[in-house]
Amino acid sequence: MRAMAVASPGGPESLRLVEMPTPTRVGHEVLVRVVAAGVNPVDAKSRAGAGVSPGSDWPMVPGYDFSGVVVQTPYEAFPLSPGDEVFGMTAFPRTGGSYAEYVSVPAFSVARKPSVLSHAEAAAVPLAALTAWGAVVDLAKAHEGQKVLIHAGAGGVGHLAVQIAAYFGAEVVTTASPKNAEWLLELGASRVIDYTTTEFEDELADLDVVIDGVGNAKHSTGSRSLQVLRPGGLIVSLPSAGWPTMIEDAAAAGMRATHYFVQPDAGTLSVIARLITSGDVRVTADTVLPLEEAERAHILMESGHVRGKIALKVSDY
Ligand SMILES: NC(=O)c1ccc[n+]([C@@H]2O[C@H](COP(=O)([O-])OP(=O)(O)OC[C@H]3O[C@@H](n4cnc5c(N)ncnc54)[C@H](OP(=O)(O)O)[C@@H]3O)[C@@H](O)[C@H]2O)c1
Repeated sequence: MRAMAVASPGGPESLRLVEMPTPTRVGHEVLVRVVAAGVNPVDAKSRAGAGVSPGSDWPMVPGYDFSGVVVQTPYEAFPLSPGDEVFGMTAFPRTGGSYAEYVSVPAFSVARKPSVLSHAEAAAVPLAALTAWGAVVDLAKAHEGQKVLIHAGAGGVGHLAVQIAAYFGAEVVTTASPKNAEWLLELGASRVIDYTTTEFEDELADLDVVIDGVGNAKHSTGSRSLQVLRPGGLIVSLPSAGWPTMIEDAAAAGMRATHYFVQPDAGTLSVIARLITSGDVRVTADTVLPLEEAERAHILMESGHVRGKIALKVSDY
């Protein structure tokens, strides 16, 4: 099969189109022909030998998101059949592999693709949407009247987190550059703060939750967020590094803080698929490129200003 692989840690130019054996399905795995793969910041971190799984085996094939068609199932009465359209995540964070024509993944990683989405749009969903759900629903317990600040609302995770939080009745403020403000208001934010001109801590106070998709790498966004929480409020930090003293700093200020790590979860992905089908959640795959242009996709993503997601078209459907 064709795959985009990286021989050893490096920059976007180290992504090379290679031929490699099609994976063999074992045990409870489902073999899927990949039609499209989603691109996430962690793909670039892994490619560079950093991120949550820096010790990956080399050469490695990046990619944790896929949308495609079932080829083989584990047993006869399995709920999915060859030919069904599915989407899901490969095993995160250890092995990527979706920048390739086939993946073989555990059954708990695969859900039915919403028919309202193209494969490129569906490939943009799993990792970002499961992260948004994990942070907003599982950890923050979004509910009516809750006041939430979501940093990087225009990003892959952010644009889904804004919608999921609003769906559960939370009042959502988000940070973004001005070009994304109107779009984020349409998605359900009640207010968008232009982080390029405004210090969010000058405008906000007494919030219940901050979902931080930026961290301290940019303008100490993570640690400044403690200033806008109410006593006992919660910060959920998504960038893998967060900031080193986050837990202690939050505790000293009388607040709570936690990291979060996404994992494949077909059950939750099926719930998200229903919200997509009903139109309550929309996914934006702003840029779709052929697999051969994975290098360009990584350069674009590492610029840090993609709206929504990037997807790679891997094969025809
Ligand atoms: N822990 C986990 O399980 C997990 C899972 C997924 C992602 N993550 C991490 O979470 C972070 C966000 O992921 P993502 O996929 O959403 O990233 P992304 O799509 O690459 O985020 C890009 C967005 O960030 C916005 N942005 C850039 N600088 C900003 C700033 N200073 N303030 C506010 N917004 C800013 C940009 O909006 P503008 O163009 O408007 O500037 C852009 O739309 C990454 O660090 C990622 O690695 C962690």
